[in-house]
Amino acid sequence: MEKFYTTTAIDYVNGAPHIGHAYEKILTDVIQRHFSKRIKDVYMLTGVDEHGIKIQKTSALLNISPKEFCDMNAQKFIDAWKLLDINYSQFIRTTDEMHIKAVQKIFTKLINKGDIYKHSYKGLYCSGCEAFLSEKDLDEDGNCPVHKKKPEVVSEENYFFKLTKYKDAIIKHIKDNPDFIIPSFRANEVLNQLENIEDISVSRAKTSVNWGIDVETDDSQVIYVWIDALSNYITALGYSVDSIDDKFKKYWPAEVQVIGKDILKFHAIYWIALLMALELPLPKHLLAHGWITIDEAKMSKSLGNVVSPESVMKAFNMDSPDAFRYYMASAAPVGKDGNYSDDDFKEKVNAHLANSMGNLLNRTLSMLVKYFDGEIKKEFIVESELFKKAKETIKEVKHHFDYFEVAEAAGKIFELVDCINKYVTDNAPWTLAKEGKMKECGEVLYVVLETMCAVSSLIYPYCPNIAQNMAKQLKYNLDTFYDDITFNNIKEGKLISKDEIKPVFLRLDSEFAPKSAKK
Ligand code: ME8
Ligand code: MG
Repeated sequence: MEKFYTTTAIDYVNGAPHIGHAYEKILTDVIQRHFSKRIKDVYMLTGVDEHGIKIQKTSALLNISPKEFCDMNAQKFIDAWKLLDINYSQFIRTTDEMHIKAVQKIFTKLINKGDIYKHSYKGLYCSGCEAFLSEKDLDEDGNCPVHKKKPEVVSEENYFFKLTKYKDAIIKHIKDNPDFIIPSFRANEVLNQLENIEDISVSRAKTSVNWGIDVETDDSQVIYVWIDALSNYITALGYSVDSIDDKFKKYWPAEVQVIGKDILKFHAIYWIALLMALELPLPKHLLAHGWITIDEAKMSKSLGNVVSPESVMKAFNMDSPDAFRYYMASAAPVGKDGNYSDDDFKEKVNAHLANSMGNLLNRTLSMLVKYFDGEIKKEFIVESELFKKAKETIKEVKHHFDYFEVAEAAGKIFELVDCINKYVTDNAPWTLAKEGKMKECGEVLYVVLETMCAVSSLIYPYCPNIAQNMAKQLKYNLDTFYDDITFNNIKEGKLISKDEIKPVFLRLDSEFAPKSAKK
C-alpha cells in the first residue's frame, strides 16, 4: 500500500458540532495518524454538508441567507476540529464551486446514461433524514424511527436514480468481500435492506426546496442532498467526470470511509451504486461506528444534554485535547455505541494517562536524575523481555488498526504500559539503589525508558501532544515508522537534566474541574 485515503461523513451545518460529530472525526484522525506511521502518503478528508430543506428553513427563521448561515456554522466545525487537533488534509464544503460543478456533471452524465430518469412521484419525505421513506421504514405510530416525526406527503415530478439496476452487483460485492463493511455484523442489515430497494428520488422541485445544486439540464429541479453529499468524497479530489485531477488518480479509491451506523444504508447502497454507475472503483472499507450517548441518554436539543467538544475542554480546563481524544477513541469497541460522562471521563484519563503512563515516565526520569545525574551508562544497555513484549504489542496494534479497531488497539497499548509498571514494581530500582546495586538499577531504568519510546509512538495517534512531550524527554524521533522501531534509541550519555523533566499529563483535578461539560 503506497497511499491511504480516508474520509469522514460531512456534517449537516444546521447545528453546531457536538461530541457525536467529534467522535467520528477523532476516530478517523486516529486511524489516519496511525497509518501515517506505516504509509508515506496519507490523506484525510472531512467537511460539511450545506444544502437541503433544513438549512433553507433555519436560515429563513433567522432572516439571513442560507449561504450566510452556512458560512457561520461551517466555521464552528472548522474551529472545533482545530481545537481537537484533527489533522485533516482537506475540508470540503458542498457550497464549494468546484463541488457544485462536478455534481452537476455527474448528474448530467447519469441522465445521459439512462441511470437517472424523470418520474412523477408521491412519497413520504422525512426532512430529518433528508430522504423519502417507505411505509415499511416507519415505526408503529407512523413516525420516522430516527426522528420520531411524521414524514410529509410530497407529490412531485422528480428525477430518479436506477438503484435497482445495481442491486445484484452490490449484493455480490458485499458477499464477496466480508470485510467491506466493518463491523461485519452490519453487513446482514444492509443485505436485508437491499431485498426491498426501489429506485430513489434524487432531485426535488425548486418549488419545495430551492437551497440545493441546480440540475444542469432542468431549471425546475435541484439535486437532492444525498447525491450532492455523497459525491464530496470524489469531487474533493478533483473528480469532475470529463476532467480528473492527479489527486483523484492518486488517492481514489479510499481505504476506509468512516460514517455513523445511521447512514450506513446511504453509503453501502446509494454511494456504491453511484460509483458503479460512474464506473469508478469502490472504497476498500466502510467503517460504521456506533453512537455516543451522554450519561447513557440520547443527545438531543429537547433534552438539553447536547455536549460540545469545547464545553468538555472548558469544564476541565484543558489546554490540549489529548485526554478527550483518548477517551473518545477508546469509548467503544468497533461499531458499538459508546457513552460520555464527566465522572467516567475524569476517572479514566486520570487512571490511564496520568497514573499509568505519565507517572511511569516521570518517576523513571526522576530516578535517572537522582541516581545517575540523568546519564545512561554503557553498562545499563541490555536486552530485555520487555522489548519482546513491546514488539508483540506493535504487531497487535497494527493488526487491530487493519480492521480499524481503534479502542481495542488502545487496550493493547495500556496492557503494555501495565507490564512496564509491573516490571518497575517487581524490580524496585529504588531498593536496588539503596542496596548499592547501581548497575542493576540503571538497567531497569534504561529498559523502561527504551520501552517508553515505543509507547510514545503507539500513543501518538490518540494523544499527539503527550506523545511529543514524551518523545522530547526521551530524545526519541517520533517520526519513526512502526516497522522501524528498534530498541536501541536510548544512547549512552546524558539523557536529561532535572529541569527538563516535565509531567506529560496532569491529573484532571476535581478541585479545578467540578463542573459538568453539559451546558
Ligand atoms: O448525516 N454519536 O450529517 P449529520 C456518534 N450530512 N456519531 C454521531 C452522533 C452521535 N451521537 N450524531 C451524529 C449527516 N453522528 C449527513 C452525512 S455524508 C456524505 C453526509 C454522526 O450531521 C453521524 O452518524 O447528521 C454521521 O456519520 C455524522 O455524525 C454526521 O451526521
Ligand atoms: Mg444525522
